[in-house]
Amino acid sequence: MLVIKTVDELQDVLFRVHSAGKSVGLVPTMGALHEGHLSLMKRARRENQATVCSIFVNPTQFNNKEDLEKYPRTLEADLKLVEEYMDFVFAPSAEEVYKVPATEHYDFGDLEKVMEGPMRPGHFNGVGIIVKRLFDWIRPDKAYFGEKDFQQIAIIKSLVRQCNLDIQIVPCPIVREESGLALSSRNKRLSEYEHTQAANIYRILKESLELKTDSVAEIKKFVANEIEKIDVLKLEYYEIVDGETLQPVNSLNDSNSIVGCITVYAGEVRLIDNIRYK
Ligand code: PAJ
Repeated sequence: MLVIKTVDELQDVLFRVHSAGKSVGLVPTMGALHEGHLSLMKRARRENQATVCSIFVNPTQFNNKEDLEKYPRTLEADLKLVEEYMDFVFAPSAEEVYKVPATEHYDFGDLEKVMEGPMRPGHFNGVGIIVKRLFDWIRPDKAYFGEKDFQQIAIIKSLVRQCNLDIQIVPCPIVREESGLALSSRNKRLSEYEHTQAANIYRILKESLELKTDSVAEIKKFVANEIEKIDVLKLEYYEIVDGETLQPVNSLNDSNSIVGCITVYAGEVRLIDNIRYK
C-alpha cells in the first residue's frame, strides 16, 4: 500500500494505473476509521482492480470550528486498518488540497434545502468541492458512499450528473454496533452513558416501522415523543422524505421510496441516522 501526500504524486500514480487499463474504486473518508468505512473498502476491493481511499478532514465542509477541531485524527491506526484493502491512500494536508483556493460554488437545488442543508450552511458545498476535486485527481470508475449519510449520497449523485462525470456511485448499507447504534467517528466523543443511551435512536426508528398508520405527522410525533423520554438525547429533526428527491412527504403512500432521517444530540455530540419505510 502506497501512502500519497501530494496531488502531483496522486495524479502520477493514477495515470499509470489508468494506462494499465485497471478499474479504479475510490472510498473518500475523513479518517478515524471504523467497520462502517471498512465495509465500503471491502466492497471496493471486491469490485475493482485498483483501490484508493482518501483520508482527509475537509475543513470546507465544517460549518462549526469546534467540530472541525475536535474531529478525531488517527492516521497511523487508520493506515493499519486499510492496508488489507487499499492499494493507495491519499492523506494530504489542507494546504495541499486547497493550494487552489476553494472558490467553487455548487447548486444542489432542493436537495440542499432540507435537513442537513439548512442546519449546516455551506456543508454540502464543501462536500461537493472536496469530492469533485478527488474525482478529478483520481478519475475512479466507481466511488463508494455509506447510506448513513443519506442526503450526502443524493448530493454526490447530483454532482456527478451536473458535471457529466462517468463515475458510478455505489451506496453501501449502514453498519451498526450490536446495540443498533450506527457506527460513526463521532461516537468516540460520547461518554459511556451517552453511548448506551444513543442506542435508543435506532430502537425508536425501528419501532416506528411497526406503527399502524400511514400518517407521517403521527410517525414523527411518535419518534419525537420517544426521543424526548431519553434524558441525554435531544432531537434536532426527524424528517420523512421521498428517497430520491429528499422532499418531505405527508403519507407513506406518497411515494414508493420513503426514508426517515434523524439528527439527535447525545450530550454535545451530533449523531445522524436513517431508516427506510419502503
Ligand atoms: P466520513 O464521515 O469519514 O465517511 C466516509 C464514508 O463512510 C461516507 O460515505 C459515510 O457515509 C460512510 N460511513 C460512515 N459511517 C458509516 C456506517 N456506520 N455504515 C456505513 N457507511 C458509513 O462522509 C464523509 O466522511 C465526508 O463527507 C466525505 C465524503 C469523505 C467528504 O469529505
